[in-house]
Amino acid sequence: MFNGDFGDFVRAVLRIACLASIFALNPVCSWMAGAAEDASLGPPPALQPSQAPPLPKAGPLAQPRSQDQTGFPAALTASVMPSDAPLTPAAIELGEKLFFDPRLSGDGTVACSTCHDPARAFTDGRPTSIGIHGRAGQRNAPTVLNALYNKTQFWDGRARTLEEQAALPITNPFEMGAPSLADAVNKIGSDADYQRLFTQAYGRAVNESDMLRAIATYERTLVSFASPFDHFIAGDKNAISESAARGWDLFNSKAKCNLCHALTDKERDTSLFTDHDFHNIGIGILRHNVVPLARQAERDIAQGNVKAVDDAAILTDLSALGRFLITRNQKDIASFKTPNLRNVLVTAPYFHDGSQETLWDVIDHYNKGDGLKNPWLDEDIQPLALSEPEIDDVVAFLASLTSPQYKEFGEKEYARQQALSKRSRPQRDTARAFGPKPPRPEPPPL
Ligand code: HEC
Ligand code: HEC
Repeated sequence: MFNGDFGDFVRAVLRIACLASIFALNPVCSWMAGAAEDASLGPPPALQPSQAPPLPKAGPLAQPRSQDQTGFPAALTASVMPSDAPLTPAAIELGEKLFFDPRLSGDGTVACSTCHDPARAFTDGRPTSIGIHGRAGQRNAPTVLNALYNKTQFWDGRARTLEEQAALPITNPFEMGAPSLADAVNKIGSDADYQRLFTQAYGRAVNESDMLRAIATYERTLVSFASPFDHFIAGDKNAISESAARGWDLFNSKAKCNLCHALTDKERDTSLFTDHDFHNIGIGILRHNVVPLARQAERDIAQGNVKAVDDAAILTDLSALGRFLITRNQKDIASFKTPNLRNVLVTAPYFHDGSQETLWDVIDHYNKGDGLKNPWLDEDIQPLALSEPEIDDVVAFLASLTSPQYKEFGEKEYARQQALSKRSRPQRDTARAFGPKPPRPEPPPL
């Protein structure tokens, strides 16, 4: 479905980003394609108490991406572009400026980019995010690369669109902590550069809904494909290692990953690696006593109050309830959105609570079918009996989903995780991985 806005998208990206034809000639572009901003990336340094994390700058990795990427799903991309948010160069420039601007926060210290740092593939590398005054939230920051394709935003899907999503962190007291969206708008309203950009982009003065629209528009330019795996699927059989190719087969067979990361036998769509659905796969649930939490949520949070759910998800233990906070269906207790797996190697640590440090830990979790004593566990979670070489193969496949901008970072990260996994495999339980499917308890009455 190609519409007018898609044409705008093409033009915007043509003007701003690096296209294949100029890629090789433009030193910035070839540098962008090959290297992460900071080659020494690993887990971020600890912070002083009450201190917000440092502010990342908008470097070349923050620029809108070309559509000329192997594996780029053109028709799908066109279909997810809303008609009221055209991708014009002015809107994109405005959105990028806002994304990196700490003035949107309560005390001028935190921007979207604080937790979505382009050098870290638009994540923060922390188990759970740290925002204004050094306050630590309950959830891991997902990447915003390819977030335009998400049918819902956030781990629990509490926002439908990127516009709706952008409104929440600005006023969340543990994230950017602005007293209100109006306050954030006021802070930037007197800036002549913003006045010019709002007028150019939308023909109106600085205002709240265009501010959110521009941020979302910028995010819609962050399309990330062209991984070795995309070249492999496009026919270059040598683009990934033999181990990664075996991992891809396992992903779709014995390891059962495709059941949720969305590739059926009939439909091998390799664009997104998600079914856009929510599942309880047994993360974090045993640390929480969910029945009293579910009762508390039903008592204290008005259903449909997205702001109240946002506070609960970021600030409180109710976070563990996941999708239940929105639907109030018992089957959604501790269910979370199936994430896209692109660039997953460079977006550690893993899961909604950042509880797993390496991809080996993630596979160990699935391999044992973790979920004893968890009555809401998804039926598809069961012991997989993957051997050690098979686990290595699945990890190699996941690593092959890294886009070229993060190639060097990915290589370092692979080595770091591998070294860590040689020292410590906290989730490994070989007896259970090779054992029978454990019986599942009946859900208790709520
Ligand atoms: C203090 C850290 C922090 C800041 C600041 C922040 N985010 Fe996030 N972001 C997160 C966390 C944590 C989540 C996941 C929260 C959840 O799912 O409950 C998230 C989720 C998202 C998602 C959803 C992605 C997905 O796959 O579902 C998008 C998009 C996003 N943020 C964009 C933004 C934008 C735009 C801003 C600025 C207006 C922003 N974030 C500011 C930490 C932050
Ligand atoms: C029953 C559905 C289901 C199956 C089967 C499944 N996943 Fe997942 N996957 C999910 C959900 C849901 C999450 C998020 C869970 C959470 O954070 O609580 C997730 C998270 C992940 C993550 C973490 C991503 C991130 O950004 O933190 C990785 C990696 C992953 N899955 C890989 C796999 C692999 C590899 C397999 C096969 C061994 C697999 N998944 C099987 C549903 C599934």
